Amino acid sequence: MKKINSLILILSLGLASSVSAQKKTIDQRVDSVMKLMTLKEKVGQLNQYSGREVTGPSSDRKNYLLNDIKNGMVGSMLNVKGVKDTREIQAIALQSRLKIPMLFSLDVIHGYKTVFPIPLAESASWDIDAIRATAHVAAAEAAASGIHWTFAPMVDIARDPRWGRVMEGAGEDTYLGSVIARARVLGFQGNKLGAVDGIMACAKHFAAYGASMAGRDYNPVDMSEQQLHEIYLPPFKAAADAGVATFMNSFNTLNGIPATGNSYLQRDILKGAWGYKGFVVSDWGSIKEMLPWGFATDLNEAAKFAIEAGSDMDMESEAYKKELESLIKSGNVNVKVADDAVRRILYKKFELGLFDDPYKFSDEKREAKVMNDPSYQKIALAAAQKSIVLLKNKANILPLQKSMQRIALIGPLVNAKRDQAGSWVVYADTANIVSVNEGMRAKFGNAQFSYSEGTSITDTSTVGFNMAITTAKNADVVVMVLGENWDMSGESKSRTDISLPGKQEELFNAIKATGKPVVVVMMAGRPLVFNNIADKADAIVYAWFLGDQGGNAIADVLSGDYNPSGKLPMSFPRNVGQIPIFYNHYNTGRPVTKSNDIRYKSAYIDSPNDPRFAFGYGLSYTSFAYSDLKLAQASVIKGQTMKLSFTLTNTGKVTGEEVAQLYIQDKVASLVRPVKELKDFAKVKLNSGESKVINFELTPAKLAFYKEKFGWITEPGIFKVMIGGSSDEIKLEGDFKLR
Ligand code: NOJ
Repeated sequence: MKKINSLILILSLGLASSVSAQKKTIDQRVDSVMKLMTLKEKVGQLNQYSGREVTGPSSDRKNYLLNDIKNGMVGSMLNVKGVKDTREIQAIALQSRLKIPMLFSLDVIHGYKTVFPIPLAESASWDIDAIRATAHVAAAEAAASGIHWTFAPMVDIARDPRWGRVMEGAGEDTYLGSVIARARVLGFQGNKLGAVDGIMACAKHFAAYGASMAGRDYNPVDMSEQQLHEIYLPPFKAAADAGVATFMNSFNTLNGIPATGNSYLQRDILKGAWGYKGFVVSDWGSIKEMLPWGFATDLNEAAKFAIEAGSDMDMESEAYKKELESLIKSGNVNVKVADDAVRRILYKKFELGLFDDPYKFSDEKREAKVMNDPSYQKIALAAAQKSIVLLKNKANILPLQKSMQRIALIGPLVNAKRDQAGSWVVYADTANIVSVNEGMRAKFGNAQFSYSEGTSITDTSTVGFNMAITTAKNADVVVMVLGENWDMSGESKSRTDISLPGKQEELFNAIKATGKPVVVVMMAGRPLVFNNIADKADAIVYAWFLGDQGGNAIADVLSGDYNPSGKLPMSFPRNVGQIPIFYNHYNTGRPVTKSNDIRYKSAYIDSPNDPRFAFGYGLSYTSFAYSDLKLAQASVIKGQTMKLSFTLTNTGKVTGEEVAQLYIQDKVASLVRPVKELKDFAKVKLNSGESKVINFELTPAKLAFYKEKFGWITEPGIFKVMIGGSSDEIKLEGDFKLR
């Protein structure tokens, strides 16, 4: 036994002089460990369990799990966090025969101790550096707390706001989603795995989970190859190209086959065509869920399907633990399949440096220091400011004058703290979150504030209205803070009605009837439907859930100390009947060309086709002019890049940032193409009167589309180029030919 342990120690002390040398060394080290492993120990590495009952009061502890850890039967734990607990469990893992270190994982989705805006909100910033920065802080904090691995980013494209998990992703667009996927992976992981301020990222949920039928969580997905490859897979590919250490598969089926048992996705595409070298973890219990799907007869079959399909680690199904050894011994599963999974997992443990120092990430001093780094709140404030989208600003009522005398704060979310954290907060102390009430009072020091809740989020009565009306009447301006609570979006939080819950619309009407100007701040984890408010409010600020600095960021926007720059990453429907609604839809044979003539056209008789607020839309306190579009050539040959430029000018009175967006349309193709596709964007800061020439490039890949049996192809023809500040406000148009 002693011999084995010192052997592992020697093997683990490989020195790296170059990347390839290190890679070779890690491969060799993995092989050497594998040679020592029994089949049981190999299977052990493939098991992942939640740690809720391995630490904490001894009476609650799952002793069988602790024994499994001691016996080398557990490769990874989720939900064990903090230096103390991770050290304790690691010490137990190191009592196992081969002393293979434990991998600690957690859902660090939008912050660990510091809470950043929910991912959908951050995506509204279109600010890639800001997004990368928050992921990096989240990783640094988690890494200081014993965590090696986050189950993020979620890179699922989502076109259905009923689906509660839209809050966790980058919205509806593949290009934006891919750029953000890369930024988040690099943010979490840093430049190289193994540094103590980075953790492994996980691209999830592979694949097409965002297309769950009818927006209902865990529902099936049925889609064409073209949709899969063009719309849903590219953000995963971007994550893989950015070096994401792991993938998680998903709860849905894809065309009848559960993702966990889907070898087309995991073997053919991910590990085959993409050459992915990291490992795949199942989603929670998704291996055993092949039973209720009616895809596997029993756990034994489910385990076989999953491992053969490329699911390397079993999260909480106990399928590998119970079935894999016998499946291999009976020859039902080839040991090489399991070996490959084990190798992938051990490789990551080596890359992280855990064989060299299993406690590397569990350092009390670093934990104390990193958790209280004051610079993180500045990053949180910047991210929150940038995430806010100004949807309406009638007669420029915003920004409010700082000399404003009397401000009434009304609504159920005025004092919100926990709600502003949104879903997926596993560690943070949400009492630290700045409410709108606090942020506004700090910002408008000279104003006289009054407050009335009016109604709670889910109230069915209007008893609080009178007090709120009186409060409004005694003010110069009313700021209403309305929306969903944090628990109405996230996993398992699908809604069929995405309007404002409870009596909030009625409260708004009652306040509006006072004749006072009403500014609405809307908090939610998804696009909501609020036509009445959109029509009647004087201003609307969409604030999602902004995390720690939410109240300050909102006050900065309302006061004009920050000029809003966010743009919607998802279309906001007028009604649920329009869903799924997204900007890059196809044309039809019968498009509506005149809105007053919809007879026998692809239209609704009771609603316009277009969304209430379009993808890419968002206002600023200044204005921007687009001019001088120049395409470098009238045509390009297949394989060449088309370069184009235009001038962006700040035509307003204050400094501001614009997200200039480039869309294309492939006019005629052998597969019909969307009316518009985002292909580039630039977030540009300009002083009043300042102009800047912006350059975009349309590479061959951006002109390609996916055709079943052919793969990615480009076809000669005319491409339309469209540039503007929103998908529905194109300011410059041109075209070129692809030869
Ligand atoms: C289920 C969720 O779908 C997944 O995203 C998450 O990472 C796991 N549970 C672990 O909490």
